[in-house]
Amino acid sequence: MKKLVVLSGAGMSAESGLRTFREMGGLWEEYDVQEVASPGGWEKDRELVLRFYNERRKQLLETHPNRGHIALAELEKDYDVSIVTQNVDDLHERAGSSKVLHLHGELRKSQSTADSSLVYDIDGWELNLGALCEKGAQLRPNVVWFGEAVPAIEEAAVLVAAADLLVIIGTSMNVYPAAGLINYVSPSVPVYLIDPNEVSMAGSTGIRVIRKGAGEGVDELINILKGE
Ligand code: OAD
Repeated sequence: MKKLVVLSGAGMSAESGLRTFREMGGLWEEYDVQEVASPGGWEKDRELVLRFYNERRKQLLETHPNRGHIALAELEKDYDVSIVTQNVDDLHERAGSSKVLHLHGELRKSQSTADSSLVYDIDGWELNLGALCEKGAQLRPNVVWFGEAVPAIEEAAVLVAAADLLVIIGTSMNVYPAAGLINYVSPSVPVYLIDPNEVSMAGSTGIRVIRKGAGEGVDELINILKGE
């Protein structure tokens, strides 16, 4: 089967009711990213950071995969699909996608502040001060904050480099190193971009744009692929 790699961002989950970051009404309009998503913010006010992610987790548990997530999972019948997502939600997995790589971590997991290799599932939506790892250190959300390394980036680059088809969905391609993954794709490989808004990708040419939301956009992509 041909290898189809999806690079997804917050817009993938917008139709499930989760807010994106940089659009009008996005999360970074309401919250200061340095306060809630950086090591400095964590040092300054752990409770605020935990509350921010608890809120996100609570919303995630109340929502469901959308048509776009489900259609991508169904594509596994015809393609070897790998999803590389910047999203910390688990909606791709819940839709049935079997290969999902989370570049920015996972909201429903915690990690030890003493040893980042100690990762645990979070039961329910709350992670609070006083929740400790087996070594007795405070647990934090298992998400990658600004200024931190992205451990999964090398694996993601290998996937993109081996792709026969790349599909970018719902990301403003603003955050590195994730946005740089496009540079690993072979020049002959078709690249599709699904987004209802314009996305500027410096230096990238020949991208086939489907200017639609994730649900309708993935349907259109499938129709195009069937016709090829
Ligand atoms: P952004 O908020 O930067 O971009 C969201 C994209 O989704 C935009 O291009 C929108 O036009 C598009 N969009 C909106 N509605 C859509 C829909 N219904 N269907 C498809 N696309 C839609 O989000 P990301 O690019 O994912 O990182 O942001 C990247 C990273 O920045 C996040 O992982 C997060 C954030 O700060 C960390 O917290 C480390």
